[in-house]
Amino acid sequence: MKEQLERIYSLAVADIEKAASISELDEVRAKYLSRKGEFNEIKKNLKNLSDEDKRTVGSLANEITSKLETSIKAKHDKFYQIELNEKLSKEQIDVTLPGKFIPQGKVHPLTSTTNEIVSILQSLGFSVVESKDSPEVETEYFNFDMLNIPADHPARDVQDTFFTTVAPNVVLRSQTSGAQIHVMENQKPPIRVISPGRVYRNENINARKNNFFHQIEGLYVDKNITFGDLKGVLNEFIRIYFGASRPTRFRSSFFPFTEPSAEVDVQCIMCGGKGCKTCSGTGWLEVLGAGMVDPNVLKGVGIDPEIYSGFAFGMGVERLAMLKYAIDDIRLFFNDDVRFLKQF
Ligand code: PHE
Repeated sequence: MKEQLERIYSLAVADIEKAASISELDEVRAKYLSRKGEFNEIKKNLKNLSDEDKRTVGSLANEITSKLETSIKAKHDKFYQIELNEKLSKEQIDVTLPGKFIPQGKVHPLTSTTNEIVSILQSLGFSVVESKDSPEVETEYFNFDMLNIPADHPARDVQDTFFTTVAPNVVLRSQTSGAQIHVMENQKPPIRVISPGRVYRNENINARKNNFFHQIEGLYVDKNITFGDLKGVLNEFIRIYFGASRPTRFRSSFFPFTEPSAEVDVQCIMCGGKGCKTCSGTGWLEVLGAGMVDPNVLKGVGIDPEIYSGFAFGMGVERLAMLKYAIDDIRLFFNDDVRFLKQF
């Protein structure tokens, strides 16, 4: 039995020698040292030996198996180190490699300008109306009738307004002022709201005009609201929006739904007021219309003009953006030219 043990031992040593990986070593261990391994088979037969032989053969078997265990473990540890090193070197990250380019979307300049204007007006106490009070597809009732714009007013002319085929009185809104009516029909004073949105006009397109653009409507109705309040809000808005003082002028004007009415011009940034194609030679760009809400409009929505008064304004978002960022042509906003959009 001793010889048998020694023979198996030398076979096992040779197998360990040959093993070239952790998994091959595992096989060797299974073959010789597991419960069903060759040494265990021998150990099972120990019981047939004399006590003396049992002791010597048993201790030899133990000695041999523990030697094998040790050498398998040593080799196993060596392979483990090698495999680990290989894995680590394969998975190394080279932080100096150039990164992957991930294209990033940007906010369109008209959106960021709208957000900026809205947040300034919010800081002055106005809140944004719900979208249901500011639809782009309107009836003439909201876009014209209730704003004191009579049926024969030239603003209704097909040349200015886009009519739809939905029904004869359904139009693409030509101004955000219809939101005033929606709000005043649903809400009683004090009212202090703004309403940003897109408007449509059948215009000849040029550097200043497009057939759709964006406005921000404002409405303040309460007791004792005066033209002084209107001027105060608009001046404060312009001061915050343009930062450093920018030449501006109030001009008296006319809108059917405000009385008195005014327009605000800001000096053209492209020519510094000398006159150019952007301002069509005038040196100024109109950025908003405004005025005191006409008593007829208040009466129409059931607000007593003897008790309440109010002001309204409508700002042109494109014009305000052009004047801030020196954009000389309104069409640039709508061309989807990334070279333009990237600059913001
Ligand atoms: N709706 C007018 C326009 O589009 C602007 C305006 C709004 C004027 C509110 C007065 C009051 O030109």
